[in-house]
Amino acid sequence: MITSDLNQVKTALINGDIIALPTETVYGLAANIYLDSALEKVFKLKKRPSYNPLIVHISNAGILEQIAKNIPAKARELANVFWPGPLTLVLEKQDQIPNRITAGKSTVAVRVPNHPIALQLLKSLNFPLAAPSANPFGSLSPTSAEHVALYFKEEINFILDGGPCFCGLESTIIGFENDKPILYRHGAISIEEIEKIIGPIKIKNKNSKNPSAPGMLTRHYAPKTQIQINDDISLALAQNPDKKIGVLSFRKNKKIKTEIHQEVLSISGDLNEASKNLYAALHRLDQMNLDLIISSFFPEKGLGKTINDRLKRAIK
Ligand code: TXA
Ligand code: MG
Repeated sequence: MITSDLNQVKTALINGDIIALPTETVYGLAANIYLDSALEKVFKLKKRPSYNPLIVHISNAGILEQIAKNIPAKARELANVFWPGPLTLVLEKQDQIPNRITAGKSTVAVRVPNHPIALQLLKSLNFPLAAPSANPFGSLSPTSAEHVALYFKEEINFILDGGPCFCGLESTIIGFENDKPILYRHGAISIEEIEKIIGPIKIKNKNSKNPSAPGMLTRHYAPKTQIQINDDISLALAQNPDKKIGVLSFRKNKKIKTEIHQEVLSISGDLNEASKNLYAALHRLDQMNLDLIISSFFPEKGLGKTINDRLKRAIK
């Protein structure tokens, strides 16, 4: 059930249950990082392969040393600037971090979420929470309690309601190889913002067969409906005359007939606003029994890069 009762949720977590948790990025499926049976439930429910590690969520940067060691100076700088917030750091793990969390890797992903309810819950617990996005593996991430209920209403007892997520895209993931920063996943903080703090960063090869972050796998973050990218929406519509089509637009596309459903992500052309609306719009389109969703790529700057990354991965 969808609830706002923090005490009930806290008790459930202490008892080894899993719950859905609002964060500023997307909703997560949360479990005590030290309870193997709870972590197992998360992997099972998401149908997530065990080789795909989880992100550890902590209440403040002061307890980072309990999770990670040999923390590079640039990681500390980023944490100082962006935590609480949508930045995940991949760092050398402390010995007590279970292998189930890290999928046997020597590194651990960690972040301090910036959502008042998530922070209040984390502060009230004496263990951190593992929280992958609350969706079946590979599908669209949820940005509201209702989206989580559509996926898992029968399977989870508590979906903690924190309203619509105000970033609406997953966290940006940064790791370090030989102390050099590497972008593992585009996310809700743009590369430009990261580079302002620590200088140029390398982007991990996207098409690698064995990516460091499986969120970099192609075919991920995908709606059920087929999605096609075309810079010329009118042409794409003309090429598919017999299909029931929905259009995903950045600004309103005035050339499209009103009988075609159009989801406009930002009337004013603001990429931050568009990011916040992206998944909610794709969820709505996915509920419409369409044959096809058509979109163009977004401007390749700032959060436009993250939106384009997700669109590329959503193409079947
Ligand atoms: O915004 C977010 O990060 C959300 C909210 C709930 O916090 N969580 C999220 O978790 O997106 P998930 O599990 O859906 O994606 C986590 C990504 C995966 O692509 C995983 O492979 C990567 O983080 N990851 C986790 N641990 C890693 C590690 N040690 N090294 C490299 N990548 C790692
Ligand atoms: Mg995910």
